[in-house]
Formats: sequence, C-alpha cells, structure tokens
Amino acid sequence: MKTKPRCIGVLTSGGDCPGLNAAIRGVVKACIGDEHGMQAIGFLDGFRGLVENRTIPLDDRACSGILTLGGTILGTSRDKPHKMPMGGGVMDMTETAVANARRLGIDVLVCLGGGGTQKNALALRKAGLPVVTLPKTIDNDVWGTDVTFGFDTALGIATEAIDRLHSTATSHQRTIVCEIMGHNAGWLALGAGIAGGADVILIPEIPYDAKRVAEHLLERRRMGKRFSIIAVSEGVIDVAQAAKNAAASERTKRIEKKAKAKSEEVAGPIIVEDAPRLVQEPMASRLARQLQQLTGIEARVTSLGHVQRGGTPSAADRLLCTRLGTKAAECIVEGNWNVMVAVRGDTCVSVPIEEVAGRKKTVPLDHAWLRSARLVDTCLGDRS
Ligand code: F6P
Repeated sequence: MKTKPRCIGVLTSGGDCPGLNAAIRGVVKACIGDEHGMQAIGFLDGFRGLVENRTIPLDDRACSGILTLGGTILGTSRDKPHKMPMGGGVMDMTETAVANARRLGIDVLVCLGGGGTQKNALALRKAGLPVVTLPKTIDNDVWGTDVTFGFDTALGIATEAIDRLHSTATSHQRTIVCEIMGHNAGWLALGAGIAGGADVILIPEIPYDAKRVAEHLLERRRMGKRFSIIAVSEGVIDVAQAAKNAAASERTKRIEKKAKAKSEEVAGPIIVEDAPRLVQEPMASRLARQLQQLTGIEARVTSLGHVQRGGTPSAADRLLCTRLGTKAAECIVEGNWNVMVAVRGDTCVSVPIEEVAGRKKTVPLDHAWLRSARLVDTCLGDRS
C-alpha cells in the first residue's frame, strides 16, 4: 500500500508551447488545495534543474495569474538525465536526479513534455522515482492520447498565417510555400492546411512528387486562379528522398547484421559507422525552387518557425490543460503513478508510461482528415 503523497515535484521539458503554465497551475492548485494539502516544488529548466538542484516553491502565489501566460514559468531545456552535458563532457546523471528528488521529500515527479520527456520520465521511474506525465507539444505526436496540449493554439496561429498569405499571394499571382513545424509528424500542417484552405498540403507521412504538385498548380492557373498556397510540414520528404532513406535503412540493417555476426566470432568492440550526413537545402526552399522551375510561376517561402509556439494559449488549450492537470492530481492522490494522463474522446484517462515512451503518433494514411482534404480537391503530392 502506497503512503499518501505529501510533496510533488514539477518540471517542464523539451520545446515549450502555449498551455504549459495552465497545466502547471492545474496540477499544482489541485494538489496544494485544502482537499489534498500537499506541497509542490518546481525544478527550473527541465531535467537540468533536477540534476543541479535548482528549485522554486510552487505555491498559490506562484500559480496566480499564469493561466493565460505563454511559455513556462519554470523554464525548459532538451537535456536528458542520462546524457547531460556537464563541464565539457556528457554524463549519466540519473542517480543524482533521483537522489535530489528524494532529499527534497518528493513522492511523485510530474513531467510536462513531449515524446522525449516521456522516455526520460520512464528512465527515472526505472531508477526508482515515481512519475506522472502530461502530453505537451504543438506537434500532436505523443502516443496514447487523442491530442496533446499546445496543438490547438499552434493550429490557430498557422491557420491565421495561411489566411493572411492568401491575399498577398493573390495580389502578386504567386505560389507561396508556407513551412509549418511538426517535426516528423504532419498533424499541424495537415490541420492548418485544411482549416486555412491550402491548395496543396505536404506531410512527412506522404512523400511528395514535385511534378505532381506542379501539375496541380498549372491546372489551377488554367482555371483562372491567381494564387496557390502550399502548406508544407518541416519534416516532409520527396519520393526520391524516401527511396534513398529506404535503401539506407536496408544498408544499416545489413551492416548491423554483419557486425553482430562478427561480434559472435571475435569478442571485442564493434564500430558501426554512421552514414555520412549531407548538408541539405531546407525542404521548403528546395520545393519552391523546383516548383518555380517546373511551372514558371513565381514561388516564395514563408517559414512560420517559433511564432507557432509563442504567446497565449487558446481557450481550448486552457481548458485541456486544466483538465489534464487536475486529472494528474487525482492520479497522484490515488496512488495511480507511473502513468501519462491522456485524452480519449470526452474523458481524461491514465496510460502506463511504458506504453507511451519510445512511440510516436504520426498521421495514419487512412485518417479522416486526409480523406476530407482530398474530397475538397487538395493535392497531397502523391496522386497523378
Ligand atoms: O517539438 C516541437 C518543435 O517545435 C518541433 O515542431 C520543431 O521541430 C522543434 O520543436 C524545434 O525545436 P527547437 O525549438 O529546439 O529549435
């Protein structure tokens, strides 16, 4: 039987997003309120603050007035406890992280983050520190939840950008390629592309054919349309690159197999060399250049970048963060630890952290959003 928790630690890790403060407020207020009467300690700058023992008290005052505030009052970083850059080297600081939390009397560490954070939280759990996590990212790519917080706000920002690009593209009879974040998942570009009425939407899950996109643009021109907007996810690849990637992954598998066979023959370290990294032109610029050549229509690039992660969270994200944060508090109180709090339909549920860590939720090729996009004649770069 677990003892009643008395103190929680809270940290935010990975890229920031709107809604982090609303989620911190949700979990902390529910834990420290009269009903549960716990204490809360915040760690600064993600897992680094836990390792370096840099804390702030999370009391009612700290959580006041932060619901609508962008960013995170705790600061964030992409540092991992088991691979922490320290004094010119990289060290495994897992034990220090766990020891610091124990010394402060923390019963459960609440980690707010995306896919990487889920993995780091699982490693801390395995090292003996109980955790509860919340799914945060504008990319919406965390496994086990219908949606992540931050996504709705970024969707609104990217959609507004696409709306605004329409008028300038029309005035100049241009093609505008709008690069949207999302890492290797196409949720944000697809969602904003549909909501903003982009004529072409390219996502990493569907390698595109530039010739196919060019045909679509020329067809629009023939129909008298003065502009075309292309919503392109930052992780997109074309069909040629997809074929190269498939060949490279086959090659890596063969090398690994050979290395394994050799290691069984001769004891000793095996070095598997990394494939050489090529410095590449950003995909959006390359695409714009290709399309201008293929169509003769002037093409420009707009990269939305970190604007998509800044500023105040949308009403839907504030509501979601408060629901997820308070559900996390319930899990903590009930002793339902080592879980991620997730959204499934209308409810918040808990999912074992083992199920989530190391998995990514990309856009399934039979997803309803893709079908809707095709039905309104959006080119997804793949069909002739
Ligand atoms: O994961 C969120 C995200 O904004 C991705 O969409 C993007 O690829 C990445 O972070 C950018 O990271 P950074 O802020 O470290 O440049």
